[in-house]
Amino acid sequence: MTTQIQSPELDLDFMNKRGFLNIPVDPALDLEYEIERLKKEKNAVILAHYYQESEIQDVADYIGDSLGLSQQAAKTDADIIVFAGVHFMAETAKMLNPEKKVLLPDLKAGCSLADSCPPHLFRKFKAQHPDHIVVSYINCTAELKTLTDICCTSTNAVHIIESIPKDQPIIFAPDKNLGKYLMKKTGRDLLLWDGACMVHEIFSKERITKLRLRHPDAKLIAHPECEEIILDAADYIGSTTGLLNYTINSDANTFIVATESGILHQMEKRSPHKTFIPAPPNNSCACNDCPHMKRNTMEKLYNAMTYELPEIILEDWIIEEGRACIDRMLEISAKAGL
Ligand code: 13P
Ligand code: SF4
Repeated sequence: MTTQIQSPELDLDFMNKRGFLNIPVDPALDLEYEIERLKKEKNAVILAHYYQESEIQDVADYIGDSLGLSQQAAKTDADIIVFAGVHFMAETAKMLNPEKKVLLPDLKAGCSLADSCPPHLFRKFKAQHPDHIVVSYINCTAELKTLTDICCTSTNAVHIIESIPKDQPIIFAPDKNLGKYLMKKTGRDLLLWDGACMVHEIFSKERITKLRLRHPDAKLIAHPECEEIILDAADYIGSTTGLLNYTINSDANTFIVATESGILHQMEKRSPHKTFIPAPPNNSCACNDCPHMKRNTMEKLYNAMTYELPEIILEDWIIEEGRACIDRMLEISAKAGL
């Protein structure tokens, strides 16, 4: 039997198809320096979400929430956008920049919330309610965006719902927890898709209550993707940027943080004298890490920038039909000063 020796190009192609470049990186390499060098050499920008590993946040040109990341993607003049986040975020950047190369260090960095709303099922659901318009949380696939009238993020969701005439029925997808929160905040009756985020559904009300007894002055702050029982107990509810700003501006010194633990890096950086406690989950697992966000590593980031792979590729019709709902979201956000 003969062994087929593959050329480096074929190997790259093979690895790319599997989702990331599994190329060993010399541990002696100064990755921060190398990534900075590659940024300049290739006119690349790194956009990172707050849930990324700390060292990835530290090499990023911009760190933000889903709205901030979309706004940055819409205005960048870089030739290459390197997205340190998950698939739907990089897809959004690609839809806003069809002519640019958008890289995601690991294409398998998905999202349980986006997965909870398969477009073929949603299409049927939508057809059963032809009088409704569709507002989708940005945490959904590019194909779902083709079935959406207006996109939203947790920063602008209230503004987006309130921008729609009161007599217009609305389907809200895919996050039922954010949807329920919006119903309370806006007084609107939304028809909810039954989706949720695996990370934000894991918090234990019982364990948080016990923790608060030990830290009576601590503020409980929660992301609106959390379940109602957690949100009802929270002192503040907001997007990742909202949560971060709250910890900076609050007089409190201790915060129990009910969202993905990556945000603690910026909270600790901005308020080094304050204490941040990740909200406890309802099991004994390590913590509140999003396994999708944490698929990205410095090594994968370095390889992605070196080889300009893996790249987000979208079919033309997806970009043509999916972009309008993002543009509408950006327009409404700009008018609201967000
Ligand atoms: P924001 O950063 O927009 O609040 O979203 C949180 C999230 O779950 C991203 O996946
Ligand atoms: Fe998706 Fe939840 Fe991970 Fe955000 S934290 S990327 S919503 S699975």
